[in-house]
Amino acid sequence: TMADHLRRLETLFTLTPQRLRMITHAFRETLDLGLEKKEQVVPMIPTFVFGWPTGQEKGDYLAIDLGGTNLRVCLVHLQGQGKFEVTQSKYRLTEEQKQDEGQKLFDFCAESLKTFIDSNSGEDGILNIEPGQNLPLGFTFSYPCRQDSIDHGVLIRWTKGFGAPNTEGHNVAEMFQKSLDKFELPVTLTALINDTTGTLIASHYVHPDTRIACIFGTGCNAAYMEHVKDVPKIKDLGIDGDLDMAINCEWGAFDSFEHEHLPRTKYDIIIDESSNKPAEQAFEKLISGRYLGEIMRLVICELIDDGILFLGQNTYKVEVPNALDTALVSLMESDPTDELLMIIGIMSHFFALETTLAERQFLRAIARLIGRRAARLSACGIGAIVGKMGYLESGCNVGCDGSLYNKYPGFAGRIQEGLVDIYGEKARNIYTHHAEDGSGVGSAIIAAMTKARKDAGV
Ligand code: BG6
Ligand code: GLC
Repeated sequence: TMADHLRRLETLFTLTPQRLRMITHAFRETLDLGLEKKEQVVPMIPTFVFGWPTGQEKGDYLAIDLGGTNLRVCLVHLQGQGKFEVTQSKYRLTEEQKQDEGQKLFDFCAESLKTFIDSNSGEDGILNIEPGQNLPLGFTFSYPCRQDSIDHGVLIRWTKGFGAPNTEGHNVAEMFQKSLDKFELPVTLTALINDTTGTLIASHYVHPDTRIACIFGTGCNAAYMEHVKDVPKIKDLGIDGDLDMAINCEWGAFDSFEHEHLPRTKYDIIIDESSNKPAEQAFEKLISGRYLGEIMRLVICELIDDGILFLGQNTYKVEVPNALDTALVSLMESDPTDELLMIIGIMSHFFALETTLAERQFLRAIARLIGRRAARLSACGIGAIVGKMGYLESGCNVGCDGSLYNKYPGFAGRIQEGLVDIYGEKARNIYTHHAEDGSGVGSAIIAAMTKARKDAGV
């Protein structure tokens, strides 16, 4: 019966406090290993962003953001005192573009930037570029890149379903520069950053008690500020040990390949094996927006096969891979009506299915289990950084962004609940908040910080 299945699924998707503590412990060891040695599964990438912004960074900067749901181009006007203005345009990437030749992808980015510059320049435009002048451009490229300076980055591997050939192993800053030259744009690429690093810096610009930043969107990842002296693997670079540097954890890769720590269900295993990168991004595949809808769809399909759901109806629409967007899962969970009218609408509109109230309650219960598991696992990652850095005692703010954090009902509350399960009441010192626009504002601030360091001759 439906009730039996629900009980079975509850057992599969529920993580006990004890389990959360074990995962957090393993997570922390993994983070330490990534700082100690090069080329680890969780690579703990030094970003060459040194220390916090002063809040007084000022000026006009262009930013381009590749890696979330949309390609975005922004003009950021930093005003100092934690204030800024952003003008932006969004461009949708097709699934085909994500698999197309790498250089073509960067050409598309450069072309979008050109469109943005052209349409905002001229008499009444907000952009005023003098002949011969170049505007500083920050490139937020949200995939793992090995960096040895702020304006350089070799793509370690694509994530989030991207697969553009001839890009992994290449310096993407150089590839993008080639595209910029092709379109003769009046810009200079000054910084290549990850969205988490941008979010960390942008959040701190506005909330100076921010210590960690997380993205819970198409992918999931975190960055935090580390003491250079505590990153053994970069000792040979001779960087002043008193400095701090942002670390892009790339924690979505936690437990990849070995699968020792995370409780994967058969649905998770199907998703992994049918992805373009099997065995990789094991943590991310249980948490992020790219996968949650598909987890729910696989559960639904199993129950259709078992003759539990939608008896006698034609279910072909819901049987198409990736037919259920994570945004719909979050809508289903947040349906405020007793009759679950939103779920009626979703199931009939997208899948041509009629539902009984019992079926709808069941769907909502599954959505809740999947969303809750994602948030509680996320708490393990945050818990690992917090424990390692001693922030439980001092308290800290965690800036968070991405569609899941912003739209999934109760996500923030469930992270907090998970932290309390891990550390007890003292975890209430840890707050998450919706971060400022990391890839736009963050990359502008980082460009300004980089310029200030250059001007000071560091
Ligand atoms: C945006 C951030 O709001 O969220 C980006 O500014 C980030 O930096 C993005 O990449 C991720 O969210 P999603 O849901 O679009 O992947
Ligand atoms: C993926 C990327 C990572 C990014 C995250 C959130 O995990 O590998 O770089 O920060 O998604 O967008």
